[in-house]
Amino acid sequence: MKIVFATNNKHKLEEVRKITAQYPIEIVSLADINCQDDIPETAETLEGNALQKARYIQDKFGLDCFADDTGLEVEALDNAPGVYSARYAGIAHDSEANMKKLLTEMEGKVNRNARFRTVIALLLNGKEYLFDGIVKGVITSEKRGENGFGYDPIFIPEGYTQTFAELGNDIKNKISHRAKAVEKLDKFLSETITH
Ligand code: IMP
Repeated sequence: MKIVFATNNKHKLEEVRKITAQYPIEIVSLADINCQDDIPETAETLEGNALQKARYIQDKFGLDCFADDTGLEVEALDNAPGVYSARYAGIAHDSEANMKKLLTEMEGKVNRNARFRTVIALLLNGKEYLFDGIVKGVITSEKRGENGFGYDPIFIPEGYTQTFAELGNDIKNKISHRAKAVEKLDKFLSETITH
């Protein structure tokens, strides 16, 4: 079974392909379907953005598709940056600037609790489905580690002492927000495909 993952983020593709490797599902990217569009993400919730991206691909290409949207929700900042995580520092997808801004906002804060939340929207056979995944943790006071992407160097998942960027992808892929959402997607797909 072939399904489009509406992303060109190679880290996400690698993560999701590893997680779904055990299932008879071929994940293809936007590049694989020759889509170079800047897909709009203008909703005010993660659910809204994930649906917006998946609907865009289905409308334009007529393919079954899923899309994800992720936010980092920090308790001491009233759950910011949340849905605005990618453009927290103004320029979209500048992870260094985003982390710098977050560390500055968190200076002197005692409560460092945060969580990553991923929402996946799946459009399959004309129906829409949503799956979410959450990992709780804390924000560090400085960047640590070289692996992963985005806010990984400043997030320590619950139960660990190292950041996602120090833990590396093998551990991250077992416990992450995206892993949990993808597991739900997988379970749904495997049941839907075999029944
Ligand atoms: P998007 O939903 O993938 O566009 O991600 C929104 C923001 O969260 C971007 O700044 C990403 O770099 C960041 N982000 C998404 N997933 C992760 C992750 O697994 N670890 C760290 N940062 C992430």
